[in-house]
Amino acid sequence: MSVKETVLETLSSNRGTYISGEELSASLGVSRAAVWKAINALREEGFNIEAVTNKGYRLSAERQSITEESFRYALPQEYRRSSGRSFCKSFIYDSLDSTNLEAKRLLLDGKASSGCVVIANRQTAGRGRLGRSFFSPESGLYLSIIIKPDFDISKSVLVTVAAAAAVAKSIDEVCSQDARIKWVNDIYIDSSKVCGILTEAMTDFESGQIDNLVIGIGVNTSLEGFPEELKKTAGAVDLDRAASLGNVPGKTNAISLLASRITCYTLAYTAQIGKASPEFLDIYRDRSLVLGREIKVFKGAYRSDPNSELGGVTAKALGIDDDGGLQVIYTSGERETLTTGEVTIRL
Ligand code: BTN
Repeated sequence: MSVKETVLETLSSNRGTYISGEELSASLGVSRAAVWKAINALREEGFNIEAVTNKGYRLSAERQSITEESFRYALPQEYRRSSGRSFCKSFIYDSLDSTNLEAKRLLLDGKASSGCVVIANRQTAGRGRLGRSFFSPESGLYLSIIIKPDFDISKSVLVTVAAAAAVAKSIDEVCSQDARIKWVNDIYIDSSKVCGILTEAMTDFESGQIDNLVIGIGVNTSLEGFPEELKKTAGAVDLDRAASLGNVPGKTNAISLLASRITCYTLAYTAQIGKASPEFLDIYRDRSLVLGREIKVFKGAYRSDPNSELGGVTAKALGIDDDGGLQVIYTSGERETLTTGEVTIRL
Protein backbone atom coordinates (compact mmCIF):
# COMPACT_ATOMS: atom_id res chain seq x y z
CA MET A 1 0.00 0.00 0.00
CA SER A 2 1.22 3.54 -0.75
CA VAL A 3 1.62 6.16 2.00
CA LYS A 4 -1.58 7.81 0.73
CA GLU A 5 -3.56 4.57 0.99
CA THR A 6 -2.20 3.81 4.46
CA VAL A 7 -2.99 7.33 5.69
CA LEU A 8 -6.53 6.99 4.35
CA GLU A 9 -6.99 3.59 5.93
CA THR A 10 -5.76 4.89 9.32
CA LEU A 11 -8.00 7.97 9.17
CA SER A 12 -11.04 6.04 8.01
CA SER A 13 -10.74 3.36 10.67
CA ASN A 14 -10.66 6.25 13.20
CA ARG A 15 -13.28 8.31 11.34
CA GLY A 16 -14.28 11.42 13.30
CA THR A 17 -11.24 11.24 15.64
CA TYR A 18 -8.16 13.49 15.36
CA ILE A 19 -4.77 11.86 14.83
CA SER A 20 -1.70 14.05 14.95
CA GLY A 21 0.76 14.25 12.05
CA GLU A 22 3.42 13.02 14.47
CA GLU A 23 1.41 9.90 15.38
CA LEU A 24 0.73 9.19 11.70
CA SER A 25 4.36 9.55 10.69
CA ALA A 26 5.54 7.40 13.63
CA SER A 27 3.00 4.62 13.09
CA LEU A 28 3.54 4.52 9.31
CA GLY A 29 7.32 4.93 9.54
CA VAL A 30 7.42 7.88 7.11
CA SER A 31 8.36 11.56 7.42
CA ARG A 32 5.89 14.29 8.47
CA ALA A 33 6.35 15.77 5.00
CA ALA A 34 5.23 12.48 3.39
CA VAL A 35 2.11 12.45 5.59
CA TRP A 36 1.36 16.05 4.66
CA LYS A 37 1.78 15.25 0.94
CA ALA A 38 -0.55 12.26 1.26
CA ILE A 39 -3.17 14.36 3.08
CA ASN A 40 -3.08 16.98 0.32
CA ALA A 41 -3.41 14.35 -2.40
CA LEU A 42 -6.41 12.81 -0.62
CA ARG A 43 -8.06 16.23 -0.27
CA GLU A 44 -7.60 16.79 -3.99
CA GLU A 45 -9.40 13.49 -4.59
CA GLY A 46 -12.35 14.89 -2.63
CA PHE A 47 -11.80 13.43 0.84
CA ASN A 48 -13.00 15.81 3.51
CA ILE A 49 -9.99 15.80 5.86
CA GLU A 50 -10.03 18.44 8.59
CA ALA A 51 -6.82 19.75 10.17
CA VAL A 52 -6.78 21.46 13.58
CA THR A 53 -3.66 22.86 15.25
CA ASN A 54 -2.52 20.80 18.25
CA LYS A 55 -5.03 18.07 17.42
CA GLY A 56 -4.09 16.76 14.00
CA TYR A 57 -6.11 15.37 11.10
CA ARG A 58 -9.44 13.64 10.94
CA LEU A 59 -11.66 12.30 8.19
CA SER A 60 -14.95 14.13 8.51
CA ALA A 61 -17.72 12.04 10.04
CA GLU A 62 -19.95 13.25 7.21
CA ARG A 63 -20.78 10.35 4.85
CA GLN A 64 -20.99 10.27 1.09
CA SER A 65 -24.24 10.82 -0.73
CA ILE A 66 -25.49 10.36 -4.27
CA THR A 67 -26.29 13.35 -6.46
CA GLU A 68 -27.49 13.55 -10.08
CA GLU A 69 -23.94 14.39 -11.08
CA SER A 70 -22.02 11.82 -9.05
CA PHE A 71 -24.35 9.08 -10.29
CA ARG A 72 -24.18 10.20 -13.92
CA TYR A 73 -20.37 10.16 -13.89
CA ALA A 74 -20.37 6.71 -12.33
CA LEU A 75 -22.47 5.23 -15.16
CA PRO A 76 -20.80 3.70 -18.22
CA GLN A 77 -21.29 5.79 -21.39
CA GLU A 78 -23.98 3.60 -22.95
CA TYR A 79 -26.16 3.93 -19.83
CA ARG A 80 -25.43 7.67 -19.40
CA ARG A 81 -26.39 9.09 -22.79
CA SER A 82 -30.07 9.34 -23.71
CA SER A 83 -29.04 8.15 -27.19
CA GLY A 84 -27.11 5.22 -25.65
CA ARG A 85 -28.02 1.59 -26.28
CA SER A 86 -28.85 0.95 -22.63
CA PHE A 87 -29.83 4.45 -21.45
CA CYS A 88 -30.82 4.41 -17.78
CA LYS A 89 -33.04 7.27 -16.62
CA SER A 90 -32.43 8.05 -12.96
CA PHE A 91 -34.58 9.76 -10.32
CA ILE A 92 -32.45 10.85 -7.37
CA TYR A 93 -33.77 12.18 -4.06
CA ASP A 94 -32.25 13.15 -0.72
CA SER A 95 -35.14 11.62 1.18
CA LEU A 96 -38.14 9.47 0.26
CA ASP A 97 -40.64 7.35 2.15
CA SER A 98 -39.52 4.35 0.07
CA THR A 99 -37.84 4.09 -3.33
CA ASN A 100 -40.13 1.14 -4.17
CA LEU A 101 -43.20 3.28 -3.45
CA GLU A 102 -41.80 6.18 -5.48
CA ALA A 103 -40.99 3.88 -8.40
CA LYS A 104 -44.61 2.68 -8.38
CA ARG A 105 -45.93 6.26 -8.22
CA LEU A 106 -43.69 7.28 -11.15
CA LEU A 107 -44.91 4.27 -13.13
CA LEU A 108 -48.54 5.13 -12.45
CA ASP A 109 -47.92 8.76 -13.49
CA GLY A 110 -46.27 7.57 -16.71
CA LYS A 111 -43.00 9.32 -15.75
CA ALA A 112 -40.90 6.17 -15.40
CA SER A 113 -40.66 2.93 -17.33
CA SER A 114 -38.57 -0.20 -17.66
CA GLY A 115 -34.84 0.51 -17.26
CA CYS A 116 -35.30 3.45 -14.87
CA VAL A 117 -33.78 3.63 -11.40
CA VAL A 118 -35.02 5.52 -8.33
CA ILE A 119 -32.40 6.32 -5.67
CA ALA A 120 -32.62 7.99 -2.24
CA ASN A 121 -29.97 8.88 0.33
CA ARG A 122 -32.40 7.99 3.12
CA GLN A 123 -35.89 6.50 3.50
CA THR A 124 -38.44 7.33 6.14
CA ALA A 125 -40.59 4.24 5.55
CA GLY A 126 -38.25 1.66 4.02
CA ARG A 127 -40.02 -1.62 3.31
CA GLY A 128 -38.59 -5.07 3.91
CA ARG A 129 -39.82 -8.54 3.00
CA LEU A 130 -42.82 -10.16 4.69
CA GLY A 131 -44.26 -6.79 5.75
CA ARG A 132 -41.22 -5.84 7.84
CA SER A 133 -39.68 -2.39 7.81
CA PHE A 134 -36.15 -1.68 6.55
CA PHE A 135 -34.07 0.71 8.66
CA SER A 136 -32.83 3.31 6.16
CA PRO A 137 -30.79 6.09 7.80
CA GLU A 138 -28.95 8.85 5.96
CA SER A 139 -26.22 7.85 3.52
CA GLY A 140 -27.12 4.20 3.07
CA LEU A 141 -27.78 3.10 -0.50
CA TYR A 142 -31.46 2.67 -1.34
CA LEU A 143 -32.49 2.07 -4.91
CA SER A 144 -35.31 0.59 -6.95
CA ILE A 145 -34.89 -0.64 -10.50
CA ILE A 146 -37.88 -1.00 -12.81
CA ILE A 147 -38.08 -3.81 -15.35
CA LYS A 148 -40.86 -5.01 -17.62
CA PRO A 149 -40.79 -8.81 -17.54
CA ASP A 150 -40.82 -10.57 -20.91
CA PHE A 151 -40.59 -14.00 -19.27
CA ASP A 152 -43.07 -16.39 -17.74
CA ILE A 153 -44.17 -15.61 -14.19
CA SER A 154 -42.92 -19.06 -13.10
CA LYS A 155 -39.45 -17.49 -13.46
CA SER A 156 -40.14 -14.66 -11.02
CA VAL A 157 -37.78 -15.94 -8.29
CA LEU A 158 -35.00 -15.43 -10.83
CA VAL A 159 -35.52 -11.68 -10.71
CA THR A 160 -34.36 -11.54 -7.09
CA VAL A 161 -31.66 -14.12 -7.84
CA ALA A 162 -30.34 -11.95 -10.72
CA ALA A 163 -30.39 -8.84 -8.51
CA ALA A 164 -28.59 -10.65 -5.66
CA ALA A 165 -25.86 -11.80 -8.06
CA ALA A 166 -25.59 -8.22 -9.35
CA VAL A 167 -25.21 -6.79 -5.83
CA ALA A 168 -22.63 -9.38 -4.72
CA LYS A 169 -20.53 -8.87 -7.85
CA SER A 170 -20.73 -5.07 -7.52
CA ILE A 171 -19.63 -5.07 -3.87
CA ASP A 172 -16.75 -7.32 -4.75
CA GLU A 173 -15.66 -5.14 -7.69
CA VAL A 174 -16.07 -1.76 -6.01
CA CYS A 175 -15.10 -2.51 -2.40
CA SER A 176 -13.01 -5.69 -2.89
CA GLN A 177 -15.07 -7.46 -0.24
CA ASP A 178 -16.18 -11.07 -0.48
CA ALA A 179 -19.98 -10.73 -0.65
CA ARG A 180 -22.00 -13.94 -0.22
CA ILE A 181 -25.68 -14.64 -0.87
CA LYS A 182 -28.11 -16.23 1.56
CA TRP A 183 -31.00 -17.63 -0.45
CA VAL A 184 -32.91 -15.92 -1.71
CA ASN A 185 -32.31 -12.23 -1.25
CA ASP A 186 -29.81 -11.40 1.49
CA ILE A 187 -26.20 -10.36 0.93
CA TYR A 188 -23.67 -11.05 3.64
CA ILE A 189 -20.09 -10.05 4.30
CA ASP A 190 -18.53 -12.40 6.85
CA SER A 191 -21.42 -13.20 9.17
CA SER A 192 -23.36 -9.92 8.84
CA LYS A 193 -26.18 -8.93 6.50
CA VAL A 194 -25.21 -5.87 4.46
CA CYS A 195 -28.04 -5.81 1.92
CA GLY A 196 -31.64 -6.92 1.45
CA ILE A 197 -33.74 -7.08 -1.71
CA LEU A 198 -37.49 -6.68 -2.06
CA THR A 199 -39.06 -7.33 -5.47
CA GLU A 200 -42.63 -6.10 -5.94
CA ALA A 201 -44.99 -6.47 -8.89
CA MET A 202 -47.24 -3.84 -10.48
CA THR A 203 -50.28 -5.52 -11.96
CA ASP A 204 -52.66 -4.18 -14.56
CA PHE A 205 -56.02 -3.90 -12.84
CA GLU A 206 -58.07 -4.94 -15.88
CA SER A 207 -56.06 -7.88 -17.19
CA GLY A 208 -54.52 -8.99 -13.88
CA GLN A 209 -51.21 -9.30 -15.77
CA ILE A 210 -47.90 -8.18 -14.29
CA ASP A 211 -46.94 -4.95 -16.04
CA ASN A 212 -43.71 -4.08 -14.31
CA LEU A 213 -41.47 -5.31 -11.52
CA VAL A 214 -39.80 -3.02 -9.00
CA ILE A 215 -36.58 -4.45 -7.60
CA GLY A 216 -35.77 -2.64 -4.34
CA ILE A 217 -32.23 -2.93 -3.02
CA GLY A 218 -30.98 -1.56 0.31
CA VAL A 219 -27.26 -1.61 1.18
CA ASN A 220 -25.83 -0.56 4.55
CA THR A 221 -22.78 1.64 4.16
CA SER A 222 -22.27 2.35 7.86
CA LEU A 223 -23.78 1.15 11.14
CA GLU A 224 -23.78 4.67 12.60
CA GLY A 225 -27.10 5.32 14.30
CA PHE A 226 -28.27 1.70 14.02
CA PRO A 227 -30.26 0.42 17.02
CA GLU A 228 -28.24 -2.05 19.14
CA GLU A 229 -30.68 -4.83 18.28
CA LEU A 230 -30.01 -4.47 14.54
CA LYS A 231 -26.25 -4.19 15.05
CA LYS A 232 -26.25 -7.84 16.19
CA THR A 233 -26.92 -9.07 12.67
CA ALA A 234 -26.26 -6.09 10.38
CA GLY A 235 -22.99 -5.22 8.70
CA ALA A 236 -21.93 -2.54 6.22
CA VAL A 237 -19.90 -2.37 3.04
CA ASP A 238 -16.62 -0.47 3.30
CA LEU A 239 -16.77 2.47 0.90
CA ASP A 240 -13.52 3.97 2.19
CA ARG A 241 -11.79 0.80 1.10
CA ALA A 242 -13.14 1.30 -2.43
CA ALA A 243 -11.59 4.76 -2.54
CA SER A 244 -8.31 3.75 -0.91
CA LEU A 245 -7.86 0.97 -3.47
CA GLY A 246 -8.16 3.56 -6.22
CA ASN A 247 -11.36 2.03 -7.62
CA VAL A 248 -13.25 5.34 -7.76
CA PRO A 249 -12.69 7.70 -10.70
CA GLY A 250 -12.25 11.41 -9.83
CA LYS A 251 -15.63 12.86 -10.81
CA THR A 252 -17.74 10.49 -8.74
CA ASN A 253 -17.68 8.82 -5.31
CA ALA A 254 -17.73 5.26 -4.04
CA ILE A 255 -21.43 5.11 -3.14
CA SER A 256 -22.44 6.35 -6.61
CA LEU A 257 -20.10 3.85 -8.23
CA LEU A 258 -21.66 1.05 -6.20
CA ALA A 259 -25.16 2.25 -7.14
CA SER A 260 -24.17 2.40 -10.80
CA ARG A 261 -22.65 -1.09 -10.90
CA ILE A 262 -25.65 -2.59 -9.08
CA THR A 263 -28.06 -0.90 -11.50
CA CYS A 264 -26.19 -1.91 -14.67
CA TYR A 265 -25.62 -5.51 -13.60
CA THR A 266 -29.22 -5.88 -12.43
CA LEU A 267 -30.50 -4.62 -15.79
CA ALA A 268 -28.10 -6.87 -17.69
CA TYR A 269 -28.79 -9.99 -15.61
CA THR A 270 -32.59 -9.66 -15.55
CA ALA A 271 -32.43 -9.40 -19.35
CA GLN A 272 -30.85 -12.90 -19.34
CA ILE A 273 -33.89 -14.49 -17.66
CA GLY A 274 -35.49 -17.07 -19.94
CA LYS A 275 -32.29 -17.39 -22.02
CA ALA A 276 -30.07 -20.48 -21.96
CA SER A 277 -27.37 -20.71 -19.23
CA PRO A 278 -27.59 -17.20 -17.78
CA GLU A 279 -24.30 -15.96 -16.34
CA PHE A 280 -25.92 -14.69 -13.14
CA LEU A 281 -26.96 -18.19 -12.02
CA ASP A 282 -23.33 -19.30 -11.93
CA ILE A 283 -22.40 -16.19 -9.96
CA TYR A 284 -25.31 -16.82 -7.58
CA ARG A 285 -24.32 -20.45 -7.00
CA ASP A 286 -20.61 -19.61 -6.60
CA ARG A 287 -21.43 -16.97 -4.01
CA SER A 288 -24.04 -18.97 -2.13
CA LEU A 289 -23.70 -18.98 1.63
CA VAL A 290 -26.04 -21.94 2.08
CA LEU A 291 -25.07 -24.63 -0.44
CA GLY A 292 -23.87 -27.79 1.28
CA ARG A 293 -24.70 -26.34 4.71
CA GLU A 294 -27.26 -27.17 7.39
CA ILE A 295 -30.04 -24.61 7.39
CA LYS A 296 -33.41 -23.95 9.04
CA VAL A 297 -36.39 -23.57 6.72
CA PHE A 298 -39.22 -21.20 7.65
CA LYS A 299 -42.28 -21.54 5.46
CA GLY A 300 -45.97 -22.32 5.53
CA ALA A 301 -46.92 -23.94 8.84
CA TYR A 302 -43.32 -23.62 10.04
CA ARG A 303 -43.18 -19.89 9.57
CA SER A 304 -42.22 -18.02 12.70
CA ASP A 305 -39.65 -15.40 13.45
CA PRO A 306 -36.39 -16.47 11.74
CA ASN A 307 -34.52 -14.21 14.16
CA SER A 308 -35.59 -16.35 17.09
CA GLU A 309 -34.10 -19.73 17.92
CA LEU A 310 -37.58 -21.27 17.87
CA GLY A 311 -39.37 -22.78 14.91
CA GLY A 312 -38.15 -23.74 11.48
CA VAL A 313 -37.23 -27.19 10.21
CA THR A 314 -33.67 -28.44 9.89
CA ALA A 315 -32.54 -29.32 6.37
CA LYS A 316 -29.44 -29.43 4.21
CA ALA A 317 -29.20 -27.12 1.19
CA LEU A 318 -28.32 -29.27 -1.82
CA GLY A 319 -28.55 -27.01 -4.84
CA ILE A 320 -30.16 -24.08 -6.64
CA ASP A 321 -32.21 -25.11 -9.65
CA ASP A 322 -32.42 -23.25 -12.96
CA ASP A 323 -35.51 -21.35 -11.73
CA GLY A 324 -33.71 -20.11 -8.60
CA GLY A 325 -35.47 -22.61 -6.31
CA LEU A 326 -33.51 -23.94 -3.32
CA GLN A 327 -33.28 -27.76 -3.30
CA VAL A 328 -33.19 -29.09 0.25
CA ILE A 329 -33.32 -32.42 2.05
CA TYR A 330 -34.95 -32.54 5.49
CA THR A 331 -33.63 -34.72 8.30
CA SER A 332 -36.64 -36.99 7.62
CA GLY A 333 -35.16 -37.72 4.17
CA GLU A 334 -37.93 -35.80 2.40
CA ARG A 335 -36.72 -33.55 -0.42
CA GLU A 336 -38.24 -30.26 -1.53
CA THR A 337 -37.49 -27.33 -3.82
CA LEU A 338 -38.28 -24.06 -2.08
CA THR A 339 -39.58 -21.14 -4.10
CA THR A 340 -40.90 -19.09 -1.17
CA GLY A 341 -40.15 -18.78 2.50
CA GLU A 342 -36.94 -18.01 4.30
CA VAL A 343 -33.94 -19.92 5.50
CA THR A 344 -31.46 -19.24 8.29
CA ILE A 345 -27.96 -20.52 8.75
CA ARG A 346 -25.74 -20.65 11.82
CA LEU A 347 -22.75 -18.42 10.98
C1 BTN B 1 -35.35 -7.26 3.28
O1 BTN B 1 -34.19 -7.53 3.66
O2 BTN B 1 -36.34 -7.58 3.94
C2 BTN B 1 -35.53 -6.49 2.01
C3 BTN B 1 -35.16 -5.05 2.20
C4 BTN B 1 -35.28 -4.22 0.94
C5 BTN B 1 -34.99 -2.76 1.21
C6 BTN B 1 -34.97 -1.92 -0.03
S1 BTN B 1 -34.28 -0.33 0.26
C7 BTN B 1 -34.77 0.18 -1.31
C8 BTN B 1 -36.14 -0.38 -1.55
N1 BTN B 1 -37.15 0.48 -1.00
C9 BTN B 1 -37.79 -0.06 0.02
O3 BTN B 1 -38.69 0.48 0.67
N2 BTN B 1 -37.34 -1.31 0.23
C10 BTN B 1 -36.30 -1.65 -0.71
